[in-house]
Amino acid sequence: MDGNGRWAELKGLPRTEGHTAGEQSLMDVLEGADELGVKWFTVFAFSTENWRRPPEEVRFLLNFNEKILLERQDELHERNVRIRFVGRRERRVPKRLLKRMDEAEILTRKNTGLTFTIAFNYGGRAELVDAMRRIADAEIPASRITEKTISRYLYDPSMPDPDLMIRTSGEYRISNFLLWELAYSELVFSEVLWPDFRREHLFAAIKEYQDRDRRYGGVTES
Ligand code: IPE
Ligand code: MG
Repeated sequence: MDGNGRWAELKGLPRTEGHTAGEQSLMDVLEGADELGVKWFTVFAFSTENWRRPPEEVRFLLNFNEKILLERQDELHERNVRIRFVGRRERRVPKRLLKRMDEAEILTRKNTGLTFTIAFNYGGRAELVDAMRRIADAEIPASRITEKTISRYLYDPSMPDPDLMIRTSGEYRISNFLLWELAYSELVFSEVLWPDFRREHLFAAIKEYQDRDRRYGGVTES
């Protein structure tokens, strides 16, 4: 969900207004995905690198994520959405927010609709480091470590590899998002800044995805 700051700056507003406006985009896109029958929908809400931002913006983002959770979890629960988090649950994440995250997961854990995963304090490299550490702790012999082993030690082993990754705001990078999981995903880049992104943009990205030819390193018979 990129481009909040630029959206606000273009309007002469403080950057945080862009984050606020992004909430509408998120709810609209989530609803659109749900109506299409998408079963797994993951957003990059806060990265392990975002701590480098000015302290006021970091504080705003932490509070804002807590506020969204509080205000939206009942509505998501009613939609049969299952809320999950991936990322490092470490000390610098406020305890209160961690508690809210747990509460949202527990409230919605039996839901059978769309799984909405929020990558929070998430980094793809950090996820791999954490997986390696746990593999070492489990004393799994090196010769028995396979790709499946690594997948099993990621933050959410039940999450399927994404079919499609969309990045907004005209940036052409992965920026440490789901590094392992994105190995064979189709990537779609949109020029639209996140606060202007709506379900129509999601549908257009899915249309583009449907025209791709996924070969997974193999060949397609003509
Ligand atoms: C994305 O928008 C929101 C978060 C990373 C939390 P940005 O804040 O990165 O917006 P730009 O890239 O500065 O426009
Ligand atoms: Mg950005």
